[in-house]
Amino acid sequence: MAKKPTLAILISGRGSNMLAIAKACASGELNADIALVLSNREDAAGIAAANSLGIPTDVVDHKAFPSRDAFDSALRTRLEAASPDWIVLAGFMRILGAQFVQRWPERILNIHPSLLPLYPGLRTHERAILAGDKEAGASVHLVVPELDAGPVIDQVRVPVLPTDTPDTLAQRVIEQEHALYVRALKQCINIAAP
Ligand code: GRF
Repeated sequence: MAKKPTLAILISGRGSNMLAIAKACASGELNADIALVLSNREDAAGIAAANSLGIPTDVVDHKAFPSRDAFDSALRTRLEAASPDWIVLAGFMRILGAQFVQRWPERILNIHPSLLPLYPGLRTHERAILAGDKEAGASVHLVVPELDAGPVIDQVRVPVLPTDTPDTLAQRVIEQEHALYVRALKQCINIAAP
């Protein structure tokens, strides 16, 4: 049987998207294996969760490096050792430099909690509410050197309610992000299959 495509998932926090992807891999819904879950924060809840599932984990603490290039280079070394087919950013709160991104062209994905090209960057839900948007959502896109700017692979839309706060809207969006990321990964893996 052909080897399944492998994923390296990069996280900085709770890792709920990572866990949804892990569940889809375990059930066979997603034809992939997770080679590594890597965080820039040792205390990321997602690292503990991945450990408890027996998924290999690693931490590269950005604070231990004098520059972004030095951090990127350490990250690159760890990832090259795991040799993933896809690098999956899932709440990874570091900006990756152009050299890093160009090492894996069209093989790095990110999930962003807005309907890109609207609201790249932070505080997306607050910005959607302040703008009076009727809809918000999330996007999975290919990573390019410009922040949150690569081609969008798939999106999910949710209504913005008049009573929404950034937190209630974030909750409604994250509930949809998990299925979105699995769906987008399926699409990428199928397109790339020999
Ligand atoms: C998600 O909202 C994702 O869109 C953004 O960071 C958050 C990560 O959440 N990039 P989790 O760690 O996957 O729970």
